[in-house]
Amino acid sequence: MEKKDLDVLLKEKRVFKPSKGIVEDSNIKKWMDEHNIKSYNELLEKAEDHRWFWEEMAKELEWYKPWDDVLEWNPPDAKWFIGAKCNIVHNALDRHMKTGVREKIAYIWESEDGRLRRLTYEDLYKEVNRFANALKRLGVKKGDRVSIYLPMIPELPIAMLACARIGAIHSVVFSGFSAKAFAQRVNDAGAKIAITVDGFYRRGGVVPLKESADEAIQNAPAVERLIVVKHAGNEVAMKDRDMWWHELVKNESTECETEVMDSEDPLFILYTSGTTGKPKGVVHVHGGYSVGVYTTLKYVFDLRGGDVWWCTADVGWVTGHSYIVYAPLMAGATSVMYEGAPDYPAQDRMWEIVERYKVTIFYTAPTLIRMFMKFGDEWLKKHDISSLRLLGSVGEPINPEAWVWYHQMIGGGRCPIMDTWWQTETGNFMISPYPVTPLKPGSATKPLPGIEADIYNEDGKSITNKGGYLVIKKPWPSMIRTVYGDPDRYHKQYWSMFPGVYLTGDMARRDEEGYFWIQGRSDDVLKVAGHRIGSAEVESALVSHPAVAEAAVVGKPDPIKGEAIEALVILKRGVNSSPELKEELRIHVGKELGAIAKPSTVKFVNDLPKTRSGKIMRRVIKAKVLGEDVGDISTLANPEAVEELDRAV
Ligand code: PRX
Repeated sequence: MEKKDLDVLLKEKRVFKPSKGIVEDSNIKKWMDEHNIKSYNELLEKAEDHRWFWEEMAKELEWYKPWDDVLEWNPPDAKWFIGAKCNIVHNALDRHMKTGVREKIAYIWESEDGRLRRLTYEDLYKEVNRFANALKRLGVKKGDRVSIYLPMIPELPIAMLACARIGAIHSVVFSGFSAKAFAQRVNDAGAKIAITVDGFYRRGGVVPLKESADEAIQNAPAVERLIVVKHAGNEVAMKDRDMWWHELVKNESTECETEVMDSEDPLFILYTSGTTGKPKGVVHVHGGYSVGVYTTLKYVFDLRGGDVWWCTADVGWVTGHSYIVYAPLMAGATSVMYEGAPDYPAQDRMWEIVERYKVTIFYTAPTLIRMFMKFGDEWLKKHDISSLRLLGSVGEPINPEAWVWYHQMIGGGRCPIMDTWWQTETGNFMISPYPVTPLKPGSATKPLPGIEADIYNEDGKSITNKGGYLVIKKPWPSMIRTVYGDPDRYHKQYWSMFPGVYLTGDMARRDEEGYFWIQGRSDDVLKVAGHRIGSAEVESALVSHPAVAEAAVVGKPDPIKGEAIEALVILKRGVNSSPELKEELRIHVGKELGAIAKPSTVKFVNDLPKTRSGKIMRRVIKAKVLGEDVGDISTLANPEAVEELDRAV
């Protein structure tokens, strides 16, 4: 698209109305008809009775025993579908064995080097059962934690589903995290079993993940066994506690009974960054999470029989948990799973995949959209991507320019974009359009039915047309139940600023028509290429380097990644600053946390602004980095540090 065309579209405050065909044919329209609901607004109104709404949604799944009551709400503790018995794997796999879905492809998997695997629902069912039996043989029981450190290969969903099937709690750690980050999460979860891979492909090379797993497990003494998937074929040193996955499952039966779980029994722990140096283990449960993720995918992305769904996230993040593993399987969908870099070997890799598998629904992050925009439209012209009928965006705010490009160039002007706002803690989409919703570029539109979101000022008053704290006022089935091992942190972090109301950590604005515009985080959490990283985590990684005395980290707007990490570092006395040291510190953070957390810039300073109690004031640093007014600095113990910042930035 020509720049001038884009400018025209941007100036137009156009609302993109869905076509009549899309509306009439949509899953949500059918649902509304069945419930005698005439319009979307009527649906939103009716769903203010959130118990009614979520109970209707829960009826779409199979339960071993139905609930006695829908919700027990003792703020901030919620229990959904009280007394019900279920297992998410029953809905994701078992129930399909009785229908035609059994022969359908569950995953089309492609590796960076072009290897292909197609798993039907029946294949997946059998592989999951074999691995579940193997875990049982190793002594894994209901409630035990299993840490999974795997890349985007089919064994990752297989391992997750096998844990869930036998009632064990999985804790997946993104394979891009460092050994240290993995060890910290294994220890926090108290896992006895860990699962990894020999290596995986990235940009033509092999990442030897087993080496990181070994390093981690040296510092995780409770781990009894490390199960290793043979994938890249790189040489690995097997230790006494190590077992090859393929040998472990060789003689296992392809049938394994599914554990009957209580609706509120934990399904998984997923670590995410907060405002302190220690990540939070977000706990989700079988019942409510099943209902939430399944129905949001079905109605937001309008999933149906012939669709080929591609969510480009990594399964190591919540987007992958909810919308590559659990929801699409519950929906009996065919998903694409890709292991590798999106622009390797060339910048049209993604479009090649869309064309090859005739992807119909494509769900990705604004960072990638902006990257493709930068690559230029000629890469797109090489491929027929007209199979697409719906698009999605997640993870960070999408700027209207990228939205319009995505809509025109990828969506051919015909595919609506579902900009889905949600979080690790929320489990499923919260603020998002349905395909029937008129769209405004850059807005995630309105809270979904059954979700009551609001914008509060400092005093907890609801405000319109001004930026404020994004909050959720009623519980929802797939909400976080607790922070693993730290219920106090759960209460304090999310429910204390406005008692009984869930604090999202985001700032947002609502316009006169009730559309929400997400502005970004209000806390010290960064969003780099859609990845969630705590400033405090990066700071403690920097301070662990022998040359560093103190460090402060802030986010700086980046045209592609949304935010880039800027680190300000005070060196220890006697250490000389040099460009080499800057690079060494960046590498050090990569080793401590993972490559995604590497600062894009490191600057050396002699002083950092602090309060009288010695706390670094990130707010002041951020204002300086952004070239904004620093505001009130009367509480600073060292106002001269502000001048020092001027010099540095
Ligand atoms: O700041 C919001 C941003 O991502 C945060 C949640 O990050 P995480 O738990 O890693 O989950 C990401 C995938 C669901 C939110 O607090 N965010 C997520 N989706 C959007 C978004 N910001 C703007 N628009 C979105 N659609």
